[in-house]
Order: sequence, then C-alpha cells, then structure tokens
Amino acid sequence: MDIYTELKKDHEELKELLEQLIALDKEDDYREVLVQEIEQALVPHSRAEESVFYNSIRALNPDNSELIDSLKEHLEAETLLKTLNVKKTANIDWKPTAIKIKDALEHHIQNEESRIFSVARKIFSEEDAKMLGTAFEEMKSKVSSEGMQKSTFDFVVNLMPPRFVDKIKALNPISRPE
Ligand SMILES: [Fe+2]
Ligand SMILES: [Fe+2]
Repeated sequence: MDIYTELKKDHEELKELLEQLIALDKEDDYREVLVQEIEQALVPHSRAEESVFYNSIRALNPDNSELIDSLKEHLEAETLLKTLNVKKTANIDWKPTAIKIKDALEHHIQNEESRIFSVARKIFSEEDAKMLGTAFEEMKSKVSSEGMQKSTFDFVVNLMPPRFVDKIKALNPISRPE
C-alpha cells in the first residue's frame, strides 16, 4: 500500500472512533475504552506520519511552514485527549472536549489529505510512495511497542529542522535495543 492509502485508512478509523465517542451517553463507561482506543490509534499514527512522511517532505521541500502547523495540531490533539482522561476521572462533563477533539482532527485530516498530499504527490514518485507506505507501517508498530515517553522524545525530534534530525536521534537519552 502506498503512503496515501495507509494514512487515509488510519484517518477513517480515527474518524469512526471519534463519531462513536461523541455519540455516547454522558454516563456511559464505554467512553474509557474508546478514549484509550483513540489514543492508541492516534499517537503511533502521528509519530510515524511525522518521522516518515513529514520529514521526507521537509527534506525535499524548502517551504514547510504548513507542516510545522500540522505538527502543532498533532500536539494539540494529544493534549486535549489527555484532558479528556482527566475529566473522566474528575467526573466533569467530557462531551465539549470530545467534540473539540473531533472537530480539530477532522479539520487536520482534511488539510493533510488535500494540501499536504498534493505537495507530496509533486515530489514523490509512485515507487517512493510505496516505500514510504512500508516505512510508515514499520514505524507505527515500533512506536506502539515503545510507549508514550519515547513518543514525546520523538515528537520533539520531529519538530527540528531536517538537517538536525539524525544527529539528535543519535543522542537519544531513552535508549532501547533495536
Ligand atoms: Fe494523519
Ligand atoms: Fe496528522
């Protein structure tokens, strides 16, 4: 599968989970399961997307302000999702936050599939897109198995200008066997 198909598949899954979440009754405990599922789908997707897809574009395309905005949206969505976990425990109305996450992510996904995909299609061949798809899948399962602490480090690395990324990765303080 090429990178565009891989990303779209995840986007559909995320949108579906968010629809299910906001359709729940305020008192329904199933939200705990759904919030966890959303986090487990969103975080590995975003880290792999940044390191494989965004960073490949940034390496070839000098104008990357749009990608930086997109990276910030990843952080915002994950922060809001953490708020949702807190609200769940504190027994505060979680619905407005859930709706905010759903709206923000739908907007983010739409932008990714239109503007960022069209930049990518100009610089990657079909073969490149397939290779990126495979790399994305591998990176996603790696992030899933490494957990949140490593994911936060990777987020910061992915924010760096492309020429620094490899150097900083070599300094990774959260070491792990490959
Ligand atoms: Fe995405
Ligand atoms: Fe994204």
